[in-house]
Amino acid sequence: MLKKKNLVFLGPPGAGKGTIARILSDETGLTHISTGDIFRAEIKGGTELGKKAQEYVSSGGLVPDELVGDMVGSRLAKDDCADGFILDGFPRTLPQAEIFKNVLDKIGKKLDLVVYFKASDDVLLKRLTARIICKQCGLNFNKLFSPPKKDGVCDECGGELYQRADDSLETAKDRLEVYYKETSPLIDLYRGEGLLLEVDGEQDKMKTYPELLEALS
Ligand code: AP5
Ligand code: MG
Repeated sequence: MLKKKNLVFLGPPGAGKGTIARILSDETGLTHISTGDIFRAEIKGGTELGKKAQEYVSSGGLVPDELVGDMVGSRLAKDDCADGFILDGFPRTLPQAEIFKNVLDKIGKKLDLVVYFKASDDVLLKRLTARIICKQCGLNFNKLFSPPKKDGVCDECGGELYQRADDSLETAKDRLEVYYKETSPLIDLYRGEGLLLEVDGEQDKMKTYPELLEALS
């Protein structure tokens, strides 16, 4: 049984938030909520939210705080979050952290831990520009660090692999810039609240996972 179950994953693009969140969710049953994945699905589905988010996501900018806050608020109130959640990619600005606090108060939940994945720009850009993702099941591969067994095909479900439009070198650099300006102040905020756990995002993910599990137990 985990002692800490309501989690935020914080860190720059490419640091491994989604990769570790998927492993942790598969192994422990915590509900994985990736705001980026939700926006990509809404854009693909052509929904109202998707239409509003599209220009921000494709340029590497941030979707307006209120829009993200409302979406996360209704997502966290669902039954599958009752036994814990991993918020991957939210909050991402100081106003979002404030919105998040209010949402938690409203639904009677408490944040247990913010896991900060730290990695250098060189590593991040190498990973982002080589990332490929399964269209069907969302599993992550990397042309450089964890290639699929068969070119362009998901090992797990046989789905087709694609590259995210915002993983071009230019947009990845823009996303990093946005991260340092808008998101990195959250590190000090949560450190000050005694909620921050820093992990080495550059090390092997199979080393990070047990370390994290121990910190949650
Ligand atoms: P989002 O999808 O959240 O993108 P991101 O923050 O840029 O993060 P990434 O998904 O790129 O990185 P990750 O840390 O998950 O890395 P991963 O595990 O995949 O957001 C996309 C967009 O949506 C935003 O730009 C914005 O427009 C919008 N948005 C989302 N949330 C928002 C919010 N709260 N407010 C406003 N707008 C929002 O790993 C990357 C690669 O590296 C993979 O190929 C993986 O296989 C590999 N890898 C991972 N770990 C390792 C390792 N340890 N060793 C070797 N390779 C590794
Ligand atoms: Mg991700």
